[in-house]
Amino acid sequence: MYNSRISGLGMYVPENIVTNDDLSKIMDTSNEWIIERTGIKERRHIKKGDGNSTVVMGVKAAKIAIERASIDKDDIDLILFATLSPDYYFPGSGVLVQELLEIPTCPAMDIRNQCSGFIYAISVGVAMLRDGYGKKCLVIGADSMSKLLDWEDRSTAVLFGDGAGAVVLEAYSCSGEKEDRGILSVDLNSDGNYKDILHVDGGVASKTTGYLRMEGREVFKHAVEKLARTSEKAMAKAGVKSDDVDWVVPHQANIRIIQGTARKMGIPDEKVIKTVQDHGNTSAASIPLALSVASEAGQIVKNDLIVTEAIGGGLAWGAIVL
Ligand code: ACO
Repeated sequence: MYNSRISGLGMYVPENIVTNDDLSKIMDTSNEWIIERTGIKERRHIKKGDGNSTVVMGVKAAKIAIERASIDKDDIDLILFATLSPDYYFPGSGVLVQELLEIPTCPAMDIRNQCSGFIYAISVGVAMLRDGYGKKCLVIGADSMSKLLDWEDRSTAVLFGDGAGAVVLEAYSCSGEKEDRGILSVDLNSDGNYKDILHVDGGVASKTTGYLRMEGREVFKHAVEKLARTSEKAMAKAGVKSDDVDWVVPHQANIRIIQGTARKMGIPDEKVIKTVQDHGNTSAASIPLALSVASEAGQIVKNDLIVTEAIGGGLAWGAIVL
């Protein structure tokens, strides 16, 4: 029987820091409003001429994850790239990473599930490794949210940042018992009835790139409820309780969503990893970025029990216990 575990983590954010004060110079907002309503202090945005794109950031994060996993890029059997802001409609971001990293022929695909994309990508990776598609899977979450922001809309423009995170998932032979490590359970959900409360209003139908549109209050309402519920379902599937959890690594959208969800889950605030203050909402990159930051800071260590959860456009949401 095979299960998957994370053997390497990597991250990348652009050098260009955009503070709340920077934003208040170009729109009617303030540092105080943004911090009070969202917890965000700054975010990184790709800058013209810095050479970054969704794929380029993904490659930078992936190189670090591969190095930390102590594997060779030639050993990668599968590439999954979660993003809502691909460089092109096609080819997919996964094959572009494959070309740039010179990874030999293997399956590569994009997962288009917005802020929950990384959770979905991990679950696809786990299932494919279990089905024998190979032993090593590179999973990337990267987004260039700044490219989709409407600078005339202060209610969304202040929330998002750019970045990338990556993990190497490795299949290992396990007993199927509670003592197994790695990805212990996954819970996935979506409901297209809520498609309009968070979406990008462009695409091939209109031949435009479009802008991110959001009914903030509605999304907020769904987020806390659905994230707590999916986390509880994933924990029940893994047979673990709130007290067993060492860390919650939430999607970094808004500090009030993060803390409200943890409260509902019965997890104390000191067990919640928070990076939203430094990165804003980086969509599919948010969870691997937070995992990387927490691991580099020595907060998350080997054998910790982690619950990670995310919700985004669709709506689509889910949680993983690892
Ligand atoms: N600066 C100053 N004032 C602002 C700003 C801003 N950047 N944005 C909105 N306002 C104003 C509004 O115009 C409104 O003014 P009014 O009362 O005169 O009409 C007032 O602030 C309150 O607006 P609300 O939208 O009611 O503010 P709210 O407390 O709901 O906070 C926010 C808005 C932060 C967007 C909140 O709804 C939220 O966090 N929603 C969750 C959405 C989210 O995080 N989405 C991310 C993508 S999905 C995901 O990843 C989960």
